Amino acid sequence: MSPKKKSEYAVPKLKDFSVASLDKEVAKLRAAIDEESKAVGTEDEWQIFRDRWMARKHGILTQVNDLWLKAAPKDAKRDVGQRVNEVKKQVEQTLADALENKQRLASSSKSSERIDITLPGIRRPVGAEHPIIKTMNEMVGVFRNLGYSVEEGPEIETDYYNFEALNFPPNHPARDTQDTLFIANQESKPLRDRLLLRTHTSPVQIRTMEKMKPPVRVVCPGKVHRNDAPDATHSPLFHQIEGLAVDTNITFCYLKGTLDHAVKEMFGSSVKTRFYPSFFPFTEPSADVQISCIFCGGRGYRDGGACRNCKASGWIELLGCGMVDPNVYGFVDYDPKKVSGFAFGMGVERIAILKYGVDDIQLFFNGDVRFLEQFAYERF
Ligand code: DAH
Repeated sequence: MSPKKKSEYAVPKLKDFSVASLDKEVAKLRAAIDEESKAVGTEDEWQIFRDRWMARKHGILTQVNDLWLKAAPKDAKRDVGQRVNEVKKQVEQTLADALENKQRLASSSKSSERIDITLPGIRRPVGAEHPIIKTMNEMVGVFRNLGYSVEEGPEIETDYYNFEALNFPPNHPARDTQDTLFIANQESKPLRDRLLLRTHTSPVQIRTMEKMKPPVRVVCPGKVHRNDAPDATHSPLFHQIEGLAVDTNITFCYLKGTLDHAVKEMFGSSVKTRFYPSFFPFTEPSADVQISCIFCGGRGYRDGGACRNCKASGWIELLGCGMVDPNVYGFVDYDPKKVSGFAFGMGVERIAILKYGVDDIQLFFNGDVRFLEQFAYERF
């Protein structure tokens, strides 16, 4: 059937939309369906037939729709529409018949058509979790086991949730640490309502506290975006897991114990943690959690030289955390005199990079199956 033969049917433009002329054209079209379908035999040919008649972009039915129905004057639309529908049905029926025929043949007793059930089947690759999703699920699993539930929030956030309610005042320099991608044409709105791609999962803390009263224990996994050029350690899109626990009498000890436990679950029980003073607007005090370097065992040197992974310090920075700043409670109507809590946020790619010894964050996003399939089965 292909390449296109001279005699092949082509949809003409119509000048005359009278019923008589329409019927004449429809008859030609129907004859073409019959004729072309009769010439079709193999599965490939049926596919070509289907594409020729039904392809959304340039299929004959689409052309009929465009050249006949859309071009029809108002008073002829109904007549044309009816006929176009019938033609469409005929093509569909032709294909359905062909399929049924094929199935009948396959189950017929003709020896050439019989299926040899002893032949090995065609295996489809089962597929596997992406290493980032896998790492994220593992981490969420660790906190689920501690009684945390999972919350999610939107990736397109308002300035209010991403910054203001997290105690980043407008123009505060802490905003500069998160180079933000803004949605265009928002200037006419008040700052707090302007939309941006969330730069962290921390806004889900606010959304969670707005909808539930303490005690709260949640983890919030999700995608975040920053205006960073991609390189071996940066990506404009990455993933974080946020954590929040608010109750009465929660102290920094709970934070230390919880994160120390989570890190050991993830990297092994011999890993040590240390809490290093830091700053985040929404926690006070704030800390960076560092873990003893998993490449050199915390020694700082390896293979007779300085350890490159921890720059010979013996420690690797893993995540940010702190006690929820009382100002944040003010935004969600919690009473800071009655409740206290901690929060933390970690980058999933960073954890996966360390856990699997990956040296380029871009590998997670390039979709190279040779890289991805290495995570398909647990390797021991
Ligand atoms: N949102 C911070 C960031 O993306 C990470 C973070 C730090 C989250 C401290 C927290 C926290 O919940 O308490 O840089």
